[in-house]
Amino acid sequence: MSTHISVPPQQLLERILTLEIVRVTERAAVSAARLRGQGQEKAADQAAVDAMRRELNKMPIEGTIVIGEGERDEAPMLFIGEKVGINAGPKVDIAVDPLEGTTLCAKDMPGSIATMAMADGGTLLHAPDVYMQKIAIGPGYAKNVIDIDASPDENIRRLAKAKGVNPSAITALVLDRPRHAAIIAAIRSTGAAVRLIDDGDVAGVIHCADPEKSGIDIYIGTGGAPEGVLAAAALRCIGGQMQCRLILDTDEKRARALKMGISDPKFIYGIEDMAKGDCLFAATGVTDGSLLRGVKFRGNVIETETIVMRSVTGTVRIIKGEHRQLEKFHLD
Ligand code: FBP
Repeated sequence: MSTHISVPPQQLLERILTLEIVRVTERAAVSAARLRGQGQEKAADQAAVDAMRRELNKMPIEGTIVIGEGERDEAPMLFIGEKVGINAGPKVDIAVDPLEGTTLCAKDMPGSIATMAMADGGTLLHAPDVYMQKIAIGPGYAKNVIDIDASPDENIRRLAKAKGVNPSAITALVLDRPRHAAIIAAIRSTGAAVRLIDDGDVAGVIHCADPEKSGIDIYIGTGGAPEGVLAAAALRCIGGQMQCRLILDTDEKRARALKMGISDPKFIYGIEDMAKGDCLFAATGVTDGSLLRGVKFRGNVIETETIVMRSVTGTVRIIKGEHRQLEKFHLD
């Protein structure tokens, strides 16, 4: 009997990389978690960046950071354009947010994660570190149920109709920011509920993918563009709809965007515009949150929880790690 498995080489490699990217976010999360609650945002972020970079540089890839800690001058590591990996293997684009929710980690509040996405070279949006207007819903709806140019209340009504419920049965997730006051009021005017989060809109968007579990039907608001690309990579794996627009409200921002190949400042990005090809996404909890448990330090064992997704198959895995012999393997 033949044991030959016919999987194209590219997919095989991608399958192997699925576990590799789990290692990357695990390490970043553990390093950041050591500084939880210390009030040191920069130190926690740097610890996560260092760990993530160390692990990325062990990977059998020719990787380019396309979404990173910023442009070269302001970010000493994991800057946009930095090459990572052992310089052998597939050419891949990498988006990282080594510590998403730095303030949450520094204050030991729920919801900070270490996260990254990886995709075929040239397929992730190269976005500048500016704000981005975002609206997202989960899978199972007809195309264009939501419209970034419609008012928030109109979007809630459209979604409620598509779901076959009253607007009062809809819950929207919104970042708690003064700039969102009008959006929050418009959503509530329909009878829908608003769940506010202090930070962390990558996880915020992911919540829409499973409303039954998360209680969230829609994400609306303005957050970071890097976080938007990471969230798009996740939704590319698990399904859903997203519409986003970069906020390029100064000449300086428009010039930076142009340098990255963005010539239309008003362009509306769907998921496929931000993550065009096959991709992988992983996130490990730093602090406990509604998506993931945070890192637990138990004697000589460190526990982690990671969600990892692969767009080719739509597989989502929750991986619980128990890590030992830390010094030997440079876990942190
Ligand atoms: P950081 O981890 O970089 O602090 O980002 C946290 C975050 O809440 C993101 O999830 C979100 O996209 C962005 O900040 C919102 O920006 P701002 O805090 O300026 O409103």
